[in-house]
Amino acid sequence: MLELTPRALRLLDFYADGQDSRHFRLRIDAPQPGDLAVIPGQFFMLGVPGFGEAPFTYVSPPDEGGEFSALIRSSGRLTARLFELESGASLGYRGPFGKGWPLLLGARRVLVVAGGCGLAPLAGWIEEALHHAAPLQLRVLYGARSAPAQVLGRERERWRQVLPLIETLEHGGPEALRGSPLAQLDRLFAEEQPQVVLCCGPEAFMLAIAKTCVRRGVAADNVWLSVERRMHCAVGLCGHCYIADSYACVDGPTYRYDHYLQLLAHGNTGHAGGELGVGPC
Ligand SMILES: Cc1cc2nc3c(=O)[nH]c(=O)nc-3n(C[C@H](O)[C@H](O)[C@H](O)COP(=O)(O)OP(=O)(O)OC[C@H]3O[C@@H](n4cnc5c(N)ncnc54)[C@H](O)[C@@H]3O)c2cc1C
Ligand code: FES
Repeated sequence: MLELTPRALRLLDFYADGQDSRHFRLRIDAPQPGDLAVIPGQFFMLGVPGFGEAPFTYVSPPDEGGEFSALIRSSGRLTARLFELESGASLGYRGPFGKGWPLLLGARRVLVVAGGCGLAPLAGWIEEALHHAAPLQLRVLYGARSAPAQVLGRERERWRQVLPLIETLEHGGPEALRGSPLAQLDRLFAEEQPQVVLCCGPEAFMLAIAKTCVRRGVAADNVWLSVERRMHCAVGLCGHCYIADSYACVDGPTYRYDHYLQLLAHGNTGHAGGELGVGPC
């Protein structure tokens, strides 16, 4: 059944988490079984009364009580209004939508690469991987423009204790290397060749990371990206999000790199096809 009618969602609380960004705790009223089956990388439509809907990813998935969290950057009309609301405010919810990251149960060496707010859609996957029974050598490479622009401060603090977290900032910093994550790939590949790469960030950044990883020997069908398109219906009806013959809301937002290249080769990169999403950071 197509889910077009928003359900009630409550804003529980929030804290500042990066420049212009907040970490929101939200609760779905009367959660349904499907709400508990969220796969990291999937998204939901957040409705702000009087301001419409926009897509956001789950940082932590809904629990039995319907509570989940999301990292949201104030970037336009809807998010500006959201940032004016107080705890207890009523919102709208539709979801979960789209395809999440692959579970990669057989993979042993995984490199996660994120730029800016692109860390948010990967956070749930990292948490799942940390609790997975099978041994997994997981490294996370995270780049941001500046220290204030870094998001998910509490999560990164925790991850630093349990996995190699390589952080880069344009001008470096106490916990971070100077430059772009791209500049770290040679060293990381020399230390250990990843089998699988998951990447999220601005589109040009992801394509550059994916290209370099494939050039360094990762199979293109083992590289995954999460792409952004403007979304309206989120259920494959309106066509705002299409990339060639694929609807990013249904077939994405996560795509295998080789599939994504085929879609781009059809000529509809988002400018000619669906409306290119404006990355959150
Ligand atoms: C699958 C998916 C997951 C996402 N997850 C997250 C998330 O976890 N956290 C997060 O913060 N964001 C996320 N986003 C991005 C978020 O949905 C957008 O930033 C959303 O547009 C914000 O709504 P808004 O009304 O506040 O801003 P908008 O009014 O939509 O403006 C956002 C930005 O786009 C520009 N803009 C507006 N209209 C146009 C146009 N027609 N052409 C070009 N530029 C335009 C504005 O100037 C502004 O810079 C996600 C997007 C997708 C597709
Ligand atoms: S958002 Fe309507 S078809 Fe994808």
